[in-house]
Order: sequence, then C-alpha cells, then structure tokens
Amino acid sequence: GKVRAPTHIISTISDDRGEEPCYAGVPMSSIVEQGFGVGDVISLLWFKRSLPRYCTQFIEICIMLCADHGPCVSGAHNTIVTARAGKDLVSSLVSGLLTIGPRFGGAIDDAARYFKDAYDRGLSPYEFVEDMKKKGIRVPGIGHRIKRGDNRDKRVELLQKFARTHFPSVKYMEYAVQVETYTLSKANNLVLNVDGAIGSLFLDLLAGSGMFTKQEIDEIIEIGYLNGLFVLARSIGLIGHTFDQKRLKQPLYRHPWEDVLYTK
Ligand code: ACO
Ligand code: LMR
Repeated sequence: GKVRAPTHIISTISDDRGEEPCYAGVPMSSIVEQGFGVGDVISLLWFKRSLPRYCTQFIEICIMLCADHGPCVSGAHNTIVTARAGKDLVSSLVSGLLTIGPRFGGAIDDAARYFKDAYDRGLSPYEFVEDMKKKGIRVPGIGHRIKRGDNRDKRVELLQKFARTHFPSVKYMEYAVQVETYTLSKANNLVLNVDGAIGSLFLDLLAGSGMFTKQEIDEIIEIGYLNGLFVLARSIGLIGHTFDQKRLKQPLYRHPWEDVLYTK
C-alpha cells in the first residue's frame, strides 16, 4: 500500500490548499455570500462548528463591549506608554496585551471554572464564597476598581439582558448573580464584573445550545478558550490607543516624581 511520510504538524481548523481558504471546512466564498460575521468566523476557527445566530451574536456583543475601557486601565496605559516611547504598532499592542491576566480581563476562564464547579456540586453561594475565602482565593469574576453595588457595570447588564431574551437557559448566570448578591452583602465593590458575566454566560451558551457534548464543554473550560474573547476584543482598543498617541504626536512619557512615594 501507500506509505505516507509522517507529518510534523497536525491542523484541524483551516485549509488554504484549494482555490480559496476554508475555515472548518466552510469555503471563504460561502462565508462572504452568506453574510457571516466575526462571531461566525470565531465559531468556525475556535469551536470548529457553525453556531446558531444568537450564539454568534452573543460572541460579537462580548467583542464590542470589551473592545475598550478608556485610557486608564492597565492594558491601555501600557500601550500608551509604549507608543509614546516611539515603538511600533505591534510592540505597543503586545505591551498592552501582556497586562491581561488574573486581575485584569483574564479572569473569564477561571470564573467559568469556579462557577461551574460550584454550581455542579450544588454549593450555595455562601458555601462557595466562604470556601474560596478559606482557601485564600479571590472569586474570579467578582470585584471591580470603580464599579459598585450602586454603580453597576452597564456591560454586565447588557449581556444579561441579551441572554435572558435569547438563551434557552441562564442557570449559570443566575448562580453568578446569587454569588454577587452574597458578595455585595459583604462589600460594595464586590460586583459581578464583565469577566464574571462572560464566564458564567458562556457556560450557559455551551450547555444550552445543544451544540457541544459534556466532554467538549469540559475540554473548552479546561483548555481555557474564554480569555481569548477579551484578548481579541481589547486588541481593537489597544490598536486605537496606539494610533491616537501617534496622531497626537505625544512625547516620551515620564511619570511625575510627585506621584511616587520615595521611601526606605
Ligand atoms: N473575591 C473575594 N474578595 C475580594 C475580591 C474577590 N474577587 N476582590 C476584592 N476582594 C476583597 C478583598 O477582601 C480585598 O481585601 P484584601 O486586599 O485584604 O484581600 C478587598 O475586597 C479590597 O480589594 P482591593 O484589592 O482593594 O480591590 P481592587 O479594587 O484592587 O481589585 C480586582 C479589583 C483586581 C478586580 C479584584 O476585585 C479581583 O482580584 N477580582 C477577581 C479577579 C477578576 O475578576 N478580575 C477581572 C476584573 S474585570 C476586568 O478586568 C475587565
Ligand atoms: C476594563 O474593561 O478594562 C475594566 O473593567 C477594568 C477597569 O478597571 O475599568
């Protein structure tokens, strides 16, 4: 029979060998002709399947809502300082992206992991939060620097409203809301943040769409796909901040001495 030389790379998401590139088997012409959007392309390249419209719309809303949050947050600040140091677009972008992590924008996967585990084990919000406290772990998806119980994050409200209208079930989101109710009873800054909202709602999307097996959901959560949404979204804003600084011809940034506590 035929002997096939062993390959060094295996790839399953796209193919550029034919007349036109295919994403998860779907040719580019059909993506364009069917009027697919970025949510559909993410579905094909990340999840290797076409998801229903309400899912792709949800993904697109996440991308739009997380695209930027002003110049003062960690990512934008790094990008602005880097652009002002005369660096190029890619350097300015990655400098901002590198701040995305457990405290800033990169708590989505852990929020999904912890909310799923607590819900599936039937823990009450009280048991879950107090258990985390005993372990010395901050609840991912809870807490914000400027948002408060009496000044909620509009982005969270928008995501919840969309999901309540379009998702077949929002059980994980409702659980996250119950957790928030408990954490808010402890301190006013412990709101459900945008990472927690996306993490819990994506669990509902995965479980409720009927498009994923239990094993596939576990794999998505274990690998950690969801921070990718914030990384992708915030790249839009960080690129914008780079152009803004260049357009404004901003000089090298130097932090003022007065704003540093020099001490021994
Ligand atoms: N779980 C439990 N307790 C918390 C949490 C939390 N998630 N967040 C804050 N607290 C409590 C702690 O008791 C803390 O006291 P400590 O410093 O003695 O531990 C107290 O609130 C005050 O916390 P601060 O450190 O002042 O809160 P800060 O405003 O600096 O932190 C932050 C904000 C980083 C978002 C924090 O709430 C946190 O770590 N949350 C979890 C990670 C997360 O979800 N990050 C995503 C934020 S949204 C985004 O970036 C797009
Ligand atoms: C963001 O989206 O960057 C914010 O939620 C973080 C912040 O501190 O405003």
